[in-house]
Amino acid sequence: MKALVTYYSQTGNTEKIARAIYETIHFEKELLPIRDVTAMQGYDIIFAGFPVQAHSVPAAFLPFFKKLPAGQDIALFCTHGSLRGGHLPKQAIEHAIGLASGARILGTFCVRGKVHPKVLDSLMNSPQNHVWAEEALGACEHPDEADLADAKEFAKNILAKINR
Ligand SMILES: Cc1cc2nc3c(=O)[nH]c(=O)nc-3n(C[C@H](O)[C@H](O)[C@H](O)COP(=O)(O)O)c2cc1C
Repeated sequence: MKALVTYYSQTGNTEKIARAIYETIHFEKELLPIRDVTAMQGYDIIFAGFPVQAHSVPAAFLPFFKKLPAGQDIALFCTHGSLRGGHLPKQAIEHAIGLASGARILGTFCVRGKVHPKVLDSLMNSPQNHVWAEEALGACEHPDEADLADAKEFAKNILAKINR
């Protein structure tokens, strides 16, 4: 068995989740930012994560979908400033699911991640960002220990699916 955990992370939130997932894997494994992934053949499971940007998947993460082998087992995760369980992160993960349509998606996981206060200040003043940016004011402690525990639980559930 071999696993890849790959991610794009601008400020470290998504990378923290990726590391928590990586820790739960007890067989051959690699942890790589998406820019360092050359090929995705030969993995039994690929965990892939991105930060929600502009309600969607950031351009820097799109190479993941281009390299994804057809029929590959994957699990998607994202971090976002807006409220957990709300329609905003759901919209972004659904976009990612659409982009990964050739793969077999075993599960998804979304969790909040803080935004730098200065960045948040400027985003708050633009109409297209106002709604999520206001919600993101409450994300300043995330991802926290409970979020990392949830990420590990998510990973364990996915691994149980491939071990069946
Ligand atoms: C330019 C920009 C756009 C963003 N757009 C959204 C958004 O549409 N919805 C949202 O919930 N969070 C948004 N965020 C917040 C990030 O998704 C969140 O802070 C994430 O945890 C950052 O992850 P990272 O540290 O791995 O880069 C945005 C952040 C930035 C900097």
